[in-house]
Amino acid sequence: MMRILPFALLVCTTAFGQSAKKAAYQRNDIKTEERVKDLLKRMTIEEKAGQLNQWAGDLNTGPASGNADWKYKLESIKSGKVGSMLNVVGAAKTRQVQAAAMQSRLGIPLLFGYDVMHGYKTIFPIPLAEACSWDLEQVERNHIVAANETSSAGVHWTFGPMADISTDPRWGRVMEGAGEDPWLGAQLAAARVKGFQGNLDSNHILACVKHFAAYGAVEAGKEYAYTDLSREALWNKYLPPYKAAVEAGAASVMNGFNIFEGIPVTGNRYLVTDVLKNKWNFKGFVVSDWNSIGEMVNWGYATDNKDAAFKALAAGSMMDMETNAIVKFLPELVKEGKITMKQVDDAVGRILYYKFKLGLFDNPYAYCNEERETATLFNAANRKQALEAAKRSVVLLKNDSKTLPLKKDGRKLALIGLYANDKAHMFDFWKGQGNPLDAVSLKEGLTAAYGESNISFSAGYTVNPATMDQVLIAEAVERARAADVAVVNIGLSGDLAGEDRALANTAIPPNQVALLKALKTTGKPVIAVVSAGRPMILTDITDLCDAILYTWILGTESGNAIAQVLTGEYNPSAKTVMSFPKATGQIPVYYNHFKTGRPNPTDGNGNWYSRYRDVENHPLYPFGYGLSYSHFTYSNLTLSDSSMTKTGTIKVKVTITNDGEYDGEEVAQLYINDVTASLIRPVKELKGFKKEMLKKGESKVIQFTLTGKDLSFFDGSGNSVLEAGTFEVFVGGNSRDVLNAKFRLK
Ligand code: NOJ
Repeated sequence: MMRILPFALLVCTTAFGQSAKKAAYQRNDIKTEERVKDLLKRMTIEEKAGQLNQWAGDLNTGPASGNADWKYKLESIKSGKVGSMLNVVGAAKTRQVQAAAMQSRLGIPLLFGYDVMHGYKTIFPIPLAEACSWDLEQVERNHIVAANETSSAGVHWTFGPMADISTDPRWGRVMEGAGEDPWLGAQLAAARVKGFQGNLDSNHILACVKHFAAYGAVEAGKEYAYTDLSREALWNKYLPPYKAAVEAGAASVMNGFNIFEGIPVTGNRYLVTDVLKNKWNFKGFVVSDWNSIGEMVNWGYATDNKDAAFKALAAGSMMDMETNAIVKFLPELVKEGKITMKQVDDAVGRILYYKFKLGLFDNPYAYCNEERETATLFNAANRKQALEAAKRSVVLLKNDSKTLPLKKDGRKLALIGLYANDKAHMFDFWKGQGNPLDAVSLKEGLTAAYGESNISFSAGYTVNPATMDQVLIAEAVERARAADVAVVNIGLSGDLAGEDRALANTAIPPNQVALLKALKTTGKPVIAVVSAGRPMILTDITDLCDAILYTWILGTESGNAIAQVLTGEYNPSAKTVMSFPKATGQIPVYYNHFKTGRPNPTDGNGNWYSRYRDVENHPLYPFGYGLSYSHFTYSNLTLSDSSMTKTGTIKVKVTITNDGEYDGEEVAQLYINDVTASLIRPVKELKGFKKEMLKKGESKVIQFTLTGKDLSFFDGSGNSVLEAGTFEVFVGGNSRDVLNAKFRLK
């Protein structure tokens, strides 16, 4: 293995082995801020522009930018024109590229960034699935593992968590987030940042909360599309998760591709400077999304890349991912007096600060250690953690006549579904360095659990939704007839989840519906195992199945996790964090919708109210919904008082009884409704939850405390408002089936 002397040693040792005097920025015995200041003084404007320039290495996660080959990239790095690389991974590769940066005039190390959406090599459930576990400690632990693997592979920084609230399952990127609720989204964003960053030692990585702001509001769920929202919606619905991530210490923030108030968010001064930097006092750095600076030209907001660079920087944005505009035009913009050196130093200084903080000036190769990399990636402990996470992410949506669990008692299973036995469909676009061939398929998982002689497999359908393959259907029916039960893996190929994966139609594909219809005729119990990176429209299949297990995309340990749930070794405890629509035309359908002037029929004939004529208003499965093999009953909802002062608290108590047949965990959810306010409020808002293990037959009293913070909301200027009045409190096992009580805030 080639050994490279740490940069600090190289610069401090003369040809005669004598120590030269170190520059202030090279000394780690002085304050980071002083080191940054000293270095900024030594840098030319071209070198500063270089620090704001980020290029991709081996992989394009966006339209190719035309940056040439590695030879050109390495030469540019050596001449200080690049401050960060994305998509360069591996201890050996990052060392090689970092060595080029060490040859630049000031030897400023590169920051390596990479998308680690749900694991680096050991792949965890997609973030949306993970969120369904309602287990913040588990989530943090998952991110600690991801950070450990990523940092062992030479990478310092990830572009996550994605904290975009979205109520539109047509958007392919709902898989990356935490669902539809801003309060839960905030808890998850903070847990994810903490897991990634830890104490910022070399086992952790910098986080980057994205896509700032409100990218989840893309019109009709279409990628890279327009967004139109009020400031009231911005503050109350979209900003809370980003804010929580910033408060949890996120080192960086990524601009979105979208628009706010007619201005691309990358060049939006209100968002980046007024809100993020000034109101939230964010001290980290901002990176654009891939070419989001250049795309301001396509939006018709900037005349050319120079104008776009100016508008991004003037708005407060900093690093340029792949537009090549800042590195090219910053010196001119400064010369022309359009951008001041103070603005430049603020931007560059923030990036340098984190390079110092990570210790890269003291040892630029601190993250490049092949031995550690080999020992860390995909090791047994990480896989164990991924299995734990995966089984806790599976949502049981339907279980008629106690079809599940399927005990291991020698019964015969017909396992049907192409996706159960073709690993190419298991992972989504954001699979990091995960290799689908390393993953456990459903067939492998069930074979290991039930024994090979008890599983007979058939594909049942092809990938093309329109192809009705009667031969495959007939074979599946035959297998089901010969078995005791049919387990049918349907849904979408994993590749249809992630960026640039918007779908106009999110129903179960027609060929899979045809398969289920045919299987229904066998009279055998049919269990649907649905894999997808979004809540699909299940309306066509609910009556065709006895049980539905929603398994999202579970990662490396998928097959083992689903097997543990099917056998009952693990009693499902997850609850969906996105509502399941009944029909595409109902989208967006979400639990925390606003009230209407006409909520109910206003005449004796059932007319004149807010509704569709063809589909009910409610979703198929509401937010917070998920079954257990056991059953939980809620009773005795009591409040500590009938009123509360603005500085006081109110205690909410409820009894939960496990009156089913198994031990199990239940997620108790607390919602409020601010009945009348100066800005109208949603019908329900999540304000707390508790995940409790209850033994069969056990009852527990659980308690929540509501404070003024829980009862307040934001006005359009981002000020927190707490208004006297009546509040309703709801507690239950999902957002629909709840007990309720009332109190007054004085
Ligand atoms: C574009 C995506 O929108 C963003 O989320 C990602 O981090 C970057 N590409 C880098 O891959």
